[in-house]
Amino acid sequence: MNIALVTGASSGLGEEFCHSLDAKGLDCIWMVARRAEALKRVADSLKTPTKIIIADLSTKEGVGKVIDELNEGSPSIRYLINNAGFGLFGSSWKIPRQKTEEMISLNVTALVSITSACIPHMSSGSKIIEICSESAYVPLKDLAVYSSTKAFVRHYCDALREELKDTGITVTEVSPGWIRTDFIDICVNDKDVPKKVFNHTVSREDVVCDAMRVADKGGKRSTCGLYTRIQIALSNHFRGLAIRVWNGSLKR
Ligand SMILES: NC(=O)c1ccc[n+]([C@@H]2O[C@H](COP(=O)([O-])OP(=O)(O)OC[C@H]3O[C@@H](n4cnc5c(N)ncnc54)[C@H](OP(=O)(O)O)[C@@H]3O)[C@@H](O)[C@H]2O)c1
Repeated sequence: MNIALVTGASSGLGEEFCHSLDAKGLDCIWMVARRAEALKRVADSLKTPTKIIIADLSTKEGVGKVIDELNEGSPSIRYLINNAGFGLFGSSWKIPRQKTEEMISLNVTALVSITSACIPHMSSGSKIIEICSESAYVPLKDLAVYSSTKAFVRHYCDALREELKDTGITVTEVSPGWIRTDFIDICVNDKDVPKKVFNHTVSREDVVCDAMRVADKGGKRSTCGLYTRIQIALSNHFRGLAIRVWNGSLKR
């Protein structure tokens, strides 16, 4: 059974990814999030059969539930879209500890655990799509923890891609700037954030369209919007050199 697994499929980018995957001729789309009703609404709008997994991925139990389903069903995973995530605006030390820990667990721990559990169910041509962020490239004041979780994802993608080099499984990092989704309201959470922060906001359709185009070609990174591309290009120019030096040092 050929499937796609999408975390955070109940809204925003995850919902849009499900629509894009609907045209891929898969046997089933596995959709993970906490809100059952929202997941059902998305599932009902798709032609492809779906499997809904209600799980809080910021908890060990939630991640365990997804891994158990994978091990029981033993599907062939063609696409993994690791998308569930959130950010919180404000001074990092003022954000309640529990929220900060939830953010790190979801954006980092769950992403790694689910990726690791999916790889044994993948084969040549399978695509891993990790949702990162432009914020991974710039340590952002007032988004210190969020941007750091995404820096982890960025680093992880680059290393995992090398680990999977001879398998035909590709890893695509998706690093957009601000996108018009619920994410912004959750992130800002009534804080007084200047409107100009959102000047370069892009649509979720454009982000997903570019992400799928790049992933289907086995590309490394999808970015969306000129502003984001310029930021990332500048940062990559120097980082790529460091990665090549590290790879060279591992050669025997
Ligand atoms: N929007 C932006 O400006 C922006 C920019 C760069 C990167 N991103 C990244 O894009 C990804 C998707 O965000 P979005 O913009 O589509 O926002 P969104 O509409 O708020 O979607 C977030 C998704 O994650 C799920 N989720 C949140 N907490 C969860 C938990 N504890 N367990 C399981 N699922 C959980 C939500 O589902 P439930 O609430 O139903 O659980 C929802 O489906 C995130 O990783 C985010 O960091 C967003």
